[in-house]
Amino acid sequence: MITRKILITGGAGFIGSHLIHLFVKKYPQYHIVNLDKLTYAGNLENLKEIEGKPNYDFIKGDIQDEAFVQQLFKEHNFDAVIHLAAESHVDRSIANPHEFIFTNIVGTVNLLNAARAIWEGNMEDRLFYHVSTDEVYGSLEMEDEPFKETTAYDPRSPYSASKAGSDHLVRAYFHTFGLPIVVSNCSNNYGPYQFPEKLLPLFINNIKNSRPLPVYGKGENVRDWLYVEDHATAIDMIFHKGTLGETYNVGGNNEWQNIKLIRKLCEIMDRKLGREEGASAQLITFVKDRAGHDLRYAIDASKIRNELGWEPSIKFDEGFERTVDWYLENEEWLKRVTTGDYQKYYEQQYLNR
Ligand code: NAD
Ligand code: TYD
Repeated sequence: MITRKILITGGAGFIGSHLIHLFVKKYPQYHIVNLDKLTYAGNLENLKEIEGKPNYDFIKGDIQDEAFVQQLFKEHNFDAVIHLAAESHVDRSIANPHEFIFTNIVGTVNLLNAARAIWEGNMEDRLFYHVSTDEVYGSLEMEDEPFKETTAYDPRSPYSASKAGSDHLVRAYFHTFGLPIVVSNCSNNYGPYQFPEKLLPLFINNIKNSRPLPVYGKGENVRDWLYVEDHATAIDMIFHKGTLGETYNVGGNNEWQNIKLIRKLCEIMDRKLGREEGASAQLITFVKDRAGHDLRYAIDASKIRNELGWEPSIKFDEGFERTVDWYLENEEWLKRVTTGDYQKYYEQQYLNR
């Protein structure tokens, strides 16, 4: 019997597809509706395995479209929302900030308004869960303490500014309208199904094809890396046990300077591809730095550990190796993503049924 109808936005993206896999399989009693616009970052092929499951539905739609979102909520009367849909790549936000404002801010407000409209008067057992990023806290110096939930927001890219705006609005709906919300801010995710514009899949693909590895600046920036399935389990835990109105920081306690991480990747790739030691590292090319490039992100995840008992379960060496293997074994996936063929899947599988 279905006990809850949950809207997951952005479920065809990197993290969303892992979350949908987890929820559809783990909770047959939940009906999961995946709403996704299928931008360049949305790939329904990531969800092939669960496509036919009775507790899963996909709806193609744009959260920027207020009337559509209102109608969707009226029709489906969702009990809960897990909101991941976003424009997510910093470099794209530098090239074209507008889309980030429309999707990340206006789209989030459209969802908040629609949830409020159907939940008004009965907020019990309802939840609007907003998935966000550690980038809203800004940039740390090497000696600074990691970000806490209480760290003041200081976003410095159009991407992080748009996510910060959406976080503030979600919290404002809690305080002003009593909308039951929870927010999490997570560090850099890595793993299968990530669009190859982000550092790791891009570099794996480039090494495989013996193309240059464009390292921004001197490669001295530091990121905290978390295996994507661990992020999905954190979302699961916060969704079920998080306190309303609260924020949870999620991280891997796993900081890497870019250049060290890239050198490690090169070593693994040499081994996996049977290339001479040092061959992949020769592809490293230092290029012009990203504008406003945040120096360091680091997360203090003690709140989620102490209050909810969540910890990353996958050790970095294992997750990293698993990730490299996945991209090497899924050559066809990479090819379809880089040629654009994946974008035909919706039409072929859904429209021609
Ligand atoms: P992604 O870019 O891989 O996926 C985003 C998904 O949202 C895509 O499927 C896309 O089609 C969809 N989408 C975009 N605009 C839409 C719109 N207007 N209407 C409906 N759907 C739309 O992103 P991701 O890396 O999976 O990130 C998911 C969420 O997690 C984002 O909110 C991001 O800010 C947050 N986050 C990401 C990371 C990370 O390392 N990737 C870390 C922390 C938080
Ligand atoms: P990215 O994967 O874009 O994530 P974010 O900017 O959200 O942290 O980049 C991770 C780090 O790698 C970041 O410091 C920028 C750097 N980077 C490069 O040096 N070269 C690249 O081609 C890319 C995409 C990123």
